[in-house]
Amino acid sequence: MQQKFYPQNENIQVFIKDRLYPRSEAKVSVFDSSVQGGDAVWEGVRIYDRKIFCLNEHIERLQASAKILAFADIPSKQFIADAIKQTLRANNFYNDAHIRLTLTRGEKITSGMDPRLNQKGSCLIVLAEYKPPVYDNGSGVKLITSHTRRNSPMHLDSKIHHNNLINNILAKIEANYCGADDAIMLDNLGFVAETNACNIFMVKSGTLLTPHADACLPGITRATVIKLAKQLEIPVIERNVSIAEFYTAAEVFTTGTMGELTPVNEIDGRLIENKQASNIRERLYSAYKALTETLGEPID
Ligand SMILES: Cc1ncc(COP(=O)(O)O)c(C=O)c1O
Repeated sequence: MQQKFYPQNENIQVFIKDRLYPRSEAKVSVFDSSVQGGDAVWEGVRIYDRKIFCLNEHIERLQASAKILAFADIPSKQFIADAIKQTLRANNFYNDAHIRLTLTRGEKITSGMDPRLNQKGSCLIVLAEYKPPVYDNGSGVKLITSHTRRNSPMHLDSKIHHNNLINNILAKIEANYCGADDAIMLDNLGFVAETNACNIFMVKSGTLLTPHADACLPGITRATVIKLAKQLEIPVIERNVSIAEFYTAAEVFTTGTMGELTPVNEIDGRLIENKQASNIRERLYSAYKALTETLGEPID
């Protein structure tokens, strides 16, 4: 899966710190901590039908990640929500838009690692783009298993949604070389954690299984899918799941704000064979789409 450039994004306005800038002028300093050390936190947020889906959950996770990283100043919920709405209105984005929301530790007085050098306040970036769901939710995607492990709390807790994405990027490079759409990443014990960009679910004998959120991001879409499964009385279990179990699943799908619920057709050359015509992803996807149509924070 390779994302494409949409001409609608040629002349977008980007919010940085306290105001909007045209795309060509939307820049951060070379002293910004995101440039210096990937020292920033982020969220991906999606817009459906004039509403911002799960806005509160995304802002709370951004603020929590910043607190874990001991940012000295974290913008309020109101400030972040207003910046998002201002950006969407300025760009006339009311549907099929995606926001890359980033909070960096801000500019440093000189290059260096020490957060005490950050004396100019944190920097909020709201990058809104026209971007329909990025995966093919009809015909599905092909995955490989990466040799790059997803971080466990032993190293760098995956519960922090930080900008140090190198381990995920290495996994994505492997996927690219193998002609796959994305890569499954294992945890430090060899169980499946998630893909380089999404959480992952499988279906076996009518039961939905997903890895514990130990070495993966506890995704907002993942949580929504688990909630919907309970409402639909689909048995759902969070446990250690090995790649061998995924090879023989009836259904496999990934979840994320960027791509929603995406069917997986193939993992490491093994076809995912749905012999009993299980339709659990389809049922969950219909319920998810119904939520995106009704829930959300109005843009104006
Ligand atoms: C590594 C990773 N896993 C999973 C997700 C999906 O999370 P969410 O459902 O909150 O969008 C993301 C999204 O940013 C991610 O980066």
